[in-house]
Amino acid sequence: MNKKKHLVTAALPYANGPVHIGHMAGCYLPADIYARYQRAKGEDVLFVCGSDEHGVAITIKAKKEGITPQQVVDKYNGIIKDAFANFGITFDIYSRTSNPTHHETAQAFFKDLYDKGAFEEKETEQYYDVEAQQFLADRYIIGTCPVCSNPNAYGDQCENCGTSLDPKELKDVRSALSDSKPELRTSKNWFLNLGDLAEKPEFKEYSKRVEGWKSNVKGQFNSWINQGLHARAMTRDLDWGIKVPIEGVEGKVLYVWFDAPIGYISATKEYFEQKGTVDEWKNWWQDQENTNLVHFIGKDNIVFHTLIFPMMLLEHGGYVLPTQVPANEFLNLEGQKISTSRNWAIWLHEYLEDFPNRTDELRYVLTSIAPETKDADFTWRDYQLKVNSELVAILGNFVNRALVLTHKFYEGVVPTTNGEFAELAAPTNDLHQETKRAFDAMETSLQSFKFREAQAELMNIARAGNKYMGDTEPWKLIKQDPEQTAFVIKNCLDLCLQIANVAAPILPATAHRIKEQLNVADKTYAFGLDVSLEGGHTINKAEHLFKNIDDKEIEKQLEKLEANKKENAVVTETTVAPAKPEIVFDDFAKMDIRIGTILEAERVPKTDKLMKLLVDTGVDKRTVVSGIAQHFEAADIIGKQVSILINLAPRKLKGIESQGMILMAEDASGKLHFVNPNDEVENGSGVS
Ligand code: 2FM
Ligand code: ZN
Repeated sequence: MNKKKHLVTAALPYANGPVHIGHMAGCYLPADIYARYQRAKGEDVLFVCGSDEHGVAITIKAKKEGITPQQVVDKYNGIIKDAFANFGITFDIYSRTSNPTHHETAQAFFKDLYDKGAFEEKETEQYYDVEAQQFLADRYIIGTCPVCSNPNAYGDQCENCGTSLDPKELKDVRSALSDSKPELRTSKNWFLNLGDLAEKPEFKEYSKRVEGWKSNVKGQFNSWINQGLHARAMTRDLDWGIKVPIEGVEGKVLYVWFDAPIGYISATKEYFEQKGTVDEWKNWWQDQENTNLVHFIGKDNIVFHTLIFPMMLLEHGGYVLPTQVPANEFLNLEGQKISTSRNWAIWLHEYLEDFPNRTDELRYVLTSIAPETKDADFTWRDYQLKVNSELVAILGNFVNRALVLTHKFYEGVVPTTNGEFAELAAPTNDLHQETKRAFDAMETSLQSFKFREAQAELMNIARAGNKYMGDTEPWKLIKQDPEQTAFVIKNCLDLCLQIANVAAPILPATAHRIKEQLNVADKTYAFGLDVSLEGGHTINKAEHLFKNIDDKEIEKQLEKLEANKKENAVVTETTVAPAKPEIVFDDFAKMDIRIGTILEAERVPKTDKLMKLLVDTGVDKRTVVSGIAQHFEAADIIGKQVSILINLAPRKLKGIESQGMILMAEDASGKLHFVNPNDEVENGSGVS
């Protein structure tokens, strides 16, 4: 059997803005840890990424900044690429979807599907801006949201209530380009019928592997399938993008989500073109037996990577399909959603400027809070706490003590020892047992994409080192038994080397610094704990690996966040919904809101959001279907008091009649909270 090839991809970021810590924690850092880990194990790895330079995200930015789309992508591709490199993300290639190889690859892919008859050609009605003389992408259509009446909803989504929309659902539409009222015109586009593709046996076969993936990924995948899939246009009436390669077709480009994932293939091609082995990419993309294709992405990209791209690959034929898609949830910042337009973010390139030589500190904190199973929150105070009380006090402290004592006792020369000391048998045994246990657990976690856990075990190895020093007290022992002390110090120094060796995928700069101080920076070791220093080897000066972060630095960052947010206060998007139009008391009095108690709760099968509740309203016991399933576990809410609107006309949701509405408060991060009384009150008590 041939050797496995690990083809690791990280979502191609849109080149319409810099990357922030949410991108790093969700996608690029775990991808880098995984790629580094596989390489350290001696595996063949190809880690590809690049800028996603098409789509309306780019043209909208260009319009906002008053520059051309080309200028936008040139600017941000540079910023993003440099930030990744300075942060130590080890892509084998960071490409761009504007490169000719990509245009050719994506067009050939489209042409292949077109020639096979994979597309449905359909004429559809779309909004056309007569003044601007162009069809309008969904994002360029603004109108009133049918759900919450927000007058500034976009054609694809209302940012006020979060509803996904079709442009035709909006009322009072206008064009974001000219502010004029667009008209409906027909236009021909090419669709992939996802519903039909999902029924194909090859796809069904592929679906089986999804069952073994992370529950958030599996959940979204199944929910898309269960909702029923429709035909989706793979071309757009736009002029920015990759031209549709059909003769006689003008003014149309490939849908950005058709071309972007093909970017992974094009980047691989480019990598081998540069190496002069142009056909080698096929060994990675078309070797069904030996390629392990892993897509690292954020949760908003799940449908494209688990469903649409695999369908495209299957239609084309000959390509490998993903073996894993370890998508992460989102990272919030100081309790609020990270938002580009509100400038509520920590931009990677700015962090690198503000904290030079502190890449591992950020890697460490982001890995410790990685949103692997649910959304997580970054706060500057937590960053400070983790750096000071974990990196400085545990890892840095152990390594520093071992090196300082080596200088103090042996003038920096690793002691030679062939000791067997009954007195030290127990602590030494404990040390070896715990480091072995932690390392095995760390490897298991790395292989199953649980990087938080892996890092926690890495720290347990350092903790074991500190415990060993505490148990053996070499600073006292030296006065009684120099031979035993030499044995202890040798063990500690070996452990420093072992830590450097196994920490490298997660904390590469730290690993390197430890090796420098041990004077073995030019040596490579097989990944694992089975490494040691030679007696008689001279080490370098001991220097602290990490510095405490003081309050001032944190306060400065917090002030910066607030100040930047205020500068952007003019931006229309806010976390708090705008006030609704005035009403008279009678309008309010029509609503019959009561306090009730949840008696039963269960998730509505085949939905992500819905929960079926039985509520004692005091008036009666009734069924309510509520969109809270992503926020609560059924078992946790039974017995809770809630506010319920009981005279709302009943309506059917997924075949269940909902007889009322539970009132909820939604905070800035999108989390839902029950609106309930301070103290328990009798069911049926009125709210007014
Ligand atoms: O969400 C995004 O930022 C997209 N540009 C990701 C594309 S991933 C891939 F398919 F290229
Ligand atoms: Zn809305």
